[in-house]
Amino acid sequence: MNPPFYFSQSNMTLEQALNWLHMLGQVLDRLGEGVHIIDATGRTIWYNSKMEEMEGMNRQDVIGKAILDVFRFSDVSGSTLLDAIQKGKTTKNIRQTYFNNRGLAITTINNTYPLFLENDVIGAVEIASNVTKVERLQENLFKEPKATYTFEDIITNNSAMREVIEQARRTARTDSSVLIIGETGTGKELLTQSIHQASPRAAGPLISQNCAALPESLIEGLLFGTARGAFTGAIDRPGLIEQANGGTLLLDELNSLDPSLQAKLLRVIQERTLRRVGDTKDRKVDVRILATINEDPLQAVEKGKLRADLYYRLSVVTLLLPPLRDRRDDMPLLIQALIAKYNQLFQLHVKGLSPILQEKILAYDWPGNVRELEHTIQGAMNLVQGEEWLDIIHLPFYLRRKWQIGERPSTTSTIAPSLGDRAFDLRDQVEKYELSYLKEMLASHQGNISATAKALGMTRQNLQYYLKKYSLRDK
Ligand SMILES: Nc1ncnc2c1ncn2[C@@H]1O[C@H](COP(=O)(O)OP(=O)(O)OP(=O)(O)O)[C@@H](O)[C@H]1O
Ligand SMILES: [Mg+2]
Repeated sequence: MNPPFYFSQSNMTLEQALNWLHMLGQVLDRLGEGVHIIDATGRTIWYNSKMEEMEGMNRQDVIGKAILDVFRFSDVSGSTLLDAIQKGKTTKNIRQTYFNNRGLAITTINNTYPLFLENDVIGAVEIASNVTKVERLQENLFKEPKATYTFEDIITNNSAMREVIEQARRTARTDSSVLIIGETGTGKELLTQSIHQASPRAAGPLISQNCAALPESLIEGLLFGTARGAFTGAIDRPGLIEQANGGTLLLDELNSLDPSLQAKLLRVIQERTLRRVGDTKDRKVDVRILATINEDPLQAVEKGKLRADLYYRLSVVTLLLPPLRDRRDDMPLLIQALIAKYNQLFQLHVKGLSPILQEKILAYDWPGNVRELEHTIQGAMNLVQGEEWLDIIHLPFYLRRKWQIGERPSTTSTIAPSLGDRAFDLRDQVEKYELSYLKEMLASHQGNISATAKALGMTRQNLQYYLKKYSLRDK
């Protein structure tokens, strides 16, 4: 056993220092916050587990590399680390939203600090906190639930979707409970609002609650209400179910609700009565229940996350919203509608997508579905400076990285900006890359357009667009 040591002791041996570092590394990996440390030359020396999870990167791909090589199109988050080593600048509260591999929107708040040894900057650290949960909680607590969407707002060309909408229209007239199944961002909320609006309950309230957003200890009281003295400080208060009386209650992510509460909910549906927490009497309620679930309900039943009796009760009407990747015919229509929406909102005159962006968008799987698509178009339109066509350069950083645009190793050295090159222009870099890649591909296919287009995975027409853009003649 080594003798005990303390970090502050000046005569620490090398072995003790290494041990200390080893332990510190394990501590960093157990933190709930993302940690990214670079040295004074801009190379990553630490990238903890949480950061890997948040940014969807492996640390092997990041550690030891210049951050501008890895995060090629260095935007806000990249440059704050460089600002820290180059200018000794601290940057606080930079908010970023991106979608992880499962399509969930993650919001982080990043703080970046220079690290000093006496008066010299020897590195910098970025600390990213995932605030998604907190934000969702606030949204749920403070959002005035209001049905604003109707069936007319659902944009679709897809036959499966039209069938779902038709079925939803029919069910709107009844009082049956409905189970809506669909991945995140497929329009479940849109559909429930439409059902409520088209139902005889439209004049009544529509209350929605996400079952995953609140701690279990709170949700029972919140849903079913409390009676005075149910627990310390409890007052007589109606829950959301009672507040939805005469209207509709939407229970989002029902599979996250504790099974014992699911049983209580079943009673509300079957007997139309409920009992507040700590109360002795039952109360009558007249509420229509819509529930959403973002996984296969049969699997959820099997895993014990959804009570079978509740499932069978709810599944009388089941509406299944297909993910966007299974209705690619909807993408052009949605893109068009979203561009029109943000043209109006931002006072722009964007006409559409460049051919290469269109190809990328149509080929992508969109794990965050329509929400992610909307987020992407909105973000891209934020970066428009008078251009008429959205292009790759307008994309959010995480998509450019995911689609690995500009990531060809053979040309990396010619286009990777040097660390000191602070004024490097993103647009310039992408165009340089596109041009050199096109030239290379054309040369390797003896200038044959059809063959080159095929190798690039694009249509002849799209290749012609780029040849024109870069004044490369059709030979
Ligand atoms: N078919 C559609 N037409 C127009 N907008 C849509 C369509 N589908 C989804 N959207 C838009 O996408 C966003 C996400 O939709 P919504 O909130 O209904 O998704 P959700 O299925 O409830 O997602 P989550 O499971 O994450 O709560 C909203 O801004 C909504 O207006
Ligand atoms: Mg929703």
